[in-house]
Amino acid sequence: MIGAALRYARKAPQVARYIATDPLEVWLRLLAKFFERQERHKPLPRYEVDADWERGLHMSLGVPWPCQDSAEFWALWPQVIESLQNKGLGVGVGYFGGFNDGEPELVRAIWCLTRHLRPAKVVETGVARGVSSRFILEALERNGAGRLWSIDQPPPLDPELNEQVGAAVNVRCRRRWSYIQGSSRRRLPRLLASLESIDLFLHDSIHTEYNTRFELEQAWSVLRPGGVLVADDIDLNRTFHSFARAHSDNPFFVCCAQPLQSDPSRFESAGLFGIVQKSAPEGPASSSPLAATSSGRTTRFVRNRVA
Ligand SMILES: C[S@@+](CC[C@H](N)C(=O)[O-])C[C@H]1O[C@@H](n2cnc3c(N)ncnc32)[C@H](O)[C@@H]1O
Repeated sequence: MIGAALRYARKAPQVARYIATDPLEVWLRLLAKFFERQERHKPLPRYEVDADWERGLHMSLGVPWPCQDSAEFWALWPQVIESLQNKGLGVGVGYFGGFNDGEPELVRAIWCLTRHLRPAKVVETGVARGVSSRFILEALERNGAGRLWSIDQPPPLDPELNEQVGAAVNVRCRRRWSYIQGSSRRRLPRLLASLESIDLFLHDSIHTEYNTRFELEQAWSVLRPGGVLVADDIDLNRTFHSFARAHSDNPFFVCCAQPLQSDPSRFESAGLFGIVQKSAPEGPASSSPLAATSSGRTTRFVRNRVA
């Protein structure tokens, strides 16, 4: 108790500066904290995990399996992790002020989606050291087209962590990157309105029900048919469960993560992430790269994976 009080007292000048420079973000943060507290006692959903999600996802995208692009991912993964370690940064569970760095299963899913969908517009929330950002940008570079917009609100009272933001993103990749600082609640609506339509969305900011639901609904409203939405850490709240139910005519996958360190507090000490693909309209006229996906082939993934 006394220790906590002393910690707060030590940060008092930074808190005062934060309130003075960005009162709107402070208000949004307090509101988010309030809703986070309300969520604490809600029961978490039970998921049925898609053990074979990767094959299913490729079938759903209408692209070959085994994936020819995943070898490139595995060649790049150790280089990116090493580049962070060479900067003296620990990588994995909880290393960014309690937030996790992107883990290999999630980032590989995003890599494949970026390579196969060949998106023009990708939006993500939650950057931290930029593991997911780096892989999306590398995949866009290989595609020779596309842009990534990343919204991120780094911990406001920790200058050391602020210096680490985007550390994994090298100079070569930055030309396709727009980094937008601020909370997703404040920044996402305006960004999506300006983009009009997006091809791929990753939610990896704060994983409260209040925030995740807001982001998924915002992104879904402008996601083009055939586009894909990915949400990390879906075992931490009920949003993906109810979202997948509400949109159960679209193919979705519940995927087990593979964190760099195990975390006993999470689903099977690993955690889950989810993927939803917005169904392309029926009929041959669609120009979506996913038009090859027949509803027949995807039905099996549409069935209730949520209890
Ligand atoms: C799980 S980490 C992101 C990991 C990253 N995607 C990666 O692959 O390494 C979450 C990030 O979201 C940021 N964040 C927290 N609350 C946020 C909010 N309301 N809006 C936007 N970003 C937020 C955190 O500061 C942190 O940088």
